[in-house]
This record gives sequence, C-alpha cells and structure tokens, in this order.
Amino acid sequence: MEKFIRGLPKAELHMHIEGSLEPELLFELAQRNGVSIRFDSVEQLRAAYEFEDLQSFLDLYYEGAGVLLTERDFHDLTWAYLTRAAEDNVRHAEVFFDPQTHTDRGVPFEAVIDGIHGALEAGRRELGITNRLILCFLRHLSEEAAMETLDRALPFRDRIVGVGLDSSEVGHPPRKFERVFSRARKEGFRVVAHAGEEGPPEYVREALDLLEAERIDHGVRSIEDAELTERLAKEAIPLTVCPLSNVKLCVFPSMEQHNLKKLLDAGLRVTVNSDDPAYFGGYVTENYLAVQRALGLSRDEIRRLAANGFEAAFVDRDRKNALLAELHAYVAASAPRF
Ligand code: ADE
Ligand code: ZN
Repeated sequence: MEKFIRGLPKAELHMHIEGSLEPELLFELAQRNGVSIRFDSVEQLRAAYEFEDLQSFLDLYYEGAGVLLTERDFHDLTWAYLTRAAEDNVRHAEVFFDPQTHTDRGVPFEAVIDGIHGALEAGRRELGITNRLILCFLRHLSEEAAMETLDRALPFRDRIVGVGLDSSEVGHPPRKFERVFSRARKEGFRVVAHAGEEGPPEYVREALDLLEAERIDHGVRSIEDAELTERLAKEAIPLTVCPLSNVKLCVFPSMEQHNLKKLLDAGLRVTVNSDDPAYFGGYVTENYLAVQRALGLSRDEIRRLAANGFEAAFVDRDRKNALLAELHAYVAASAPRF
C-alpha cells in the first residue's frame, strides 16, 4: 500500500506556496536578504511548529513569509516545492499565493507573480508538472483591500486561473467578499474558497451561494449539516481536504478521528492535499499515507481520491482525460497478483 501511494499519479489542488517555505530555505533567505529572525536555528524554528488552532499557525506563517522579498526568492520557493512534489509523483499542481502578505510589506506584485510563474513554467518544462495559479484574498483584511488586490491582478489575468479566500475564517464569513468575487467572476476568474475548516457549515453555504465557489477548500465541517452534505454530493462540489493540516490545527484531535472516510462514504468528491506542507509535517504523499493508515482506506478508495483530484482540476477535458488515463494505467499495472 505504501509503495502504491508513493507512486500514485496525483493532483494537488490546495497548497499555499508560502506554506511550503521550509525552515532551511527560510534561514537562507533571511541571510541573503539581511532580514533578522527571532529564532537561532532551523531546529528551534521547527520546534515552534506546535499549533493550537488556525490563528496560532497563521501568526507564524505570516512571520515566516517576511523573508520573501525578491522575484528570485519567490522563484526559489516555488522551485523547491515543485522538485519535492515531483518526488511524490504530483502531475498537476494548483498553487495558492497570498499577494497581500507581500504587497503590504512593500514587495511589488510583479516580483511575487514573476517569481512564482517563472518557476511554475520551469516545472512544466523540466518536471512535466502542469500547473494553475490561484490568488487568495486575506479574509481578515477589508473588502476594499481585496478589491484593490483584484485590480492589481488584472494585468496578470493570463497567469492566474482563479481567486480564493484564506486566512482567519471565524468572524470573516464569505458574505464579506460577495462583491469582490462577483467582480472576479465577471473578469473570468474561477472561484474557490476556504470554508468549513474552523467555521460553521453556514460559511460553506455562503461560499456556494454568494461567492459561487466551484470547489470548497477544507469543507470538513459540512458534515454537521445533513442537507448541505447531500447538496455537495448531488452537485459534485469538490472538497480539497488536508488531513495533516486538520490534525496539526486541532480541527480533529487525531487522524483516527478525521472524517475523510465519512465524507467519501457520503458520496462527496473528496481530494487529498497538503495545505502548508513545511509547517504540517508532510507533503501530499504523507497526507495520503496518514489517512490511509488511520482510517484503513482501501486501494480503491485511494484511487478514487486521486481520480477526484484530476476531475476537480481547473484544466480542460483533454488534460483531465490524459491524467485519468495515466492513473488508470498505474492502478492496472500495480494490481496485486494472486
Ligand atoms: N493560509 C494558509 N493556510 C491556511 C489554512 N489552512 N486556512 C486558512 N488560511 C490559510
Ligand atoms: Zn489552505
């Protein structure tokens, strides 16, 4: 099973590029850019990765992002993620970035996007990983700030497939950004939103009804509402679930208590993703391995999770079919022989 999971062709649809900043690279960039940090060593920083909730993580995540200043930094960050993802046989990656985290520190929007985009293109050419880039608005900031960010993104529309909503969920419901998302949709952006991670099922409904989200990031709390669960199944709305993240941020007390299998059994289009792999103890393969072990998922359930990732990707039917064919061939070739 472990070998099967490691080699499985995968999509990754929910990862924040800033959340792939490993402590080693963080220290290297701090030194390169002359940024002082309050930790003495990589070990000391890694030891601080003990979180009690989403906010306690976000505080450290935004602090860590402070070492990212130049186009080269964003390129190096993205390239490091892609080479690691290639080891997990990630075949298609949809990457979130948080421009406001950087532009609010005076980093030009162009430096962020040129650095990430350049590395993504190199990843496509050299590693064969296709990609999409999704801009996330920080929901703890104002609607006005999100609207300004959307304005800044318009000249780069050809490099950004969609918009999302992240950061502190509780107290910042999707309805706060209804007008921003309406405008983004009119400009041709696809729509996703974090909802139902720490927030209630009502936030998932708002993301669907008011933002017209096509995928829900996390969405694990949807299961508390039977009608919503039925709707998600009927409308085949993908959930980008991040098991290690959910346990690290205490959404579930342990992996054994994660509801991923219940969501699958309810007929939802569940996908497996890493969220912020440098902070949560594993990349996408470790997420598959952890849920498989804790919940006893079958080979066919693992195959379904991977297939859901390809189905839910923001790519055309031809690319989806090619990825699904690759998965099918892999599963057939690795079938246990009796
Ligand atoms: N930003 C980075 N990771 C996040 C998460 N899991 N939830 C909300 N915002 C985030
Ligand atoms: Zn996330």
